[in-house]
Amino acid sequence: MQWYKSSLGKKYIMAVTGLAMVLFAIVHMLGNFTIFAGPGGINAYAAGLQGLGPGLWLFRLALLTVFLVHIWMGVSLYLENKAARPSEYAMKQNHRTSFSARTMIWTGVILGAFIIFHVLHFTVHAFHPYYATFVDAAQRHDVYRMVVMGFQGFPMTLIYIAAMVVLLLHLAHGIQSFFQSLGATNDATLPTLEKGGRGVAVVILLGFVIVPITIFFGVIRL
Ligand code: HEM
Repeated sequence: MQWYKSSLGKKYIMAVTGLAMVLFAIVHMLGNFTIFAGPGGINAYAAGLQGLGPGLWLFRLALLTVFLVHIWMGVSLYLENKAARPSEYAMKQNHRTSFSARTMIWTGVILGAFIIFHVLHFTVHAFHPYYATFVDAAQRHDVYRMVVMGFQGFPMTLIYIAAMVVLLLHLAHGIQSFFQSLGATNDATLPTLEKGGRGVAVVILLGFVIVPITIFFGVIRL
């Protein structure tokens, strides 16, 4: 059997693709902070990314591949585990695992749906086509105006905050699972890695939700 078809191979692939997405999320989160520097900050940042031209499309393609492979391997492992485990045994196991660990497949599915929704919202402008027409004084796409308008309503703000809580749950288990898949955990290191994973997940949650929250409460405004 090819290595990537074994459970261990799939776990390795999940670990590597998961790490790539966590790194992307951290960079994206830091990029979002440019909104605190006003339109000049985030619009220049977005224009810089657009300026990468074909490089941006290569990056998008790589990210999409990583995203799809992660989902494929995750679903495949989930089905494998389900087939190998009679449900009663699975119930007993639940007592020893965290909520975050038990719900990985579902938080993963919700996050996948959120990312599609999010790209339709802010990149494709599918819900508000006029977002594409926002231009600032320097003739750049006015991402600042788009994001501020995006989070002025309660439903959209709530959707994003709820999605970030789901991201917290997914990463709280996902980060320590990365080390486990690479065989880097033992009885001595596991508690530290578990705590560290949860800590990083909380920082990512806070880093993302601060943008919709400060906009919703009018701290950042047009
Ligand atoms: C409150 C949380 C978030 C905010 C405010 C936010 C903001 C944005 C904005 C403004 C864009 C469009 C940038 C542009 O037009 O140049 C964008 C694109 C994107 N975001 Fe987010 N984002 C958030 C959370 C996330 C999360 C959790 C993920 C997944 C890990 C994510 C993944 C993406 C992707 C894949 C794109 C498309 C990038 C591209 O155009 O190639 N975002 N985000």
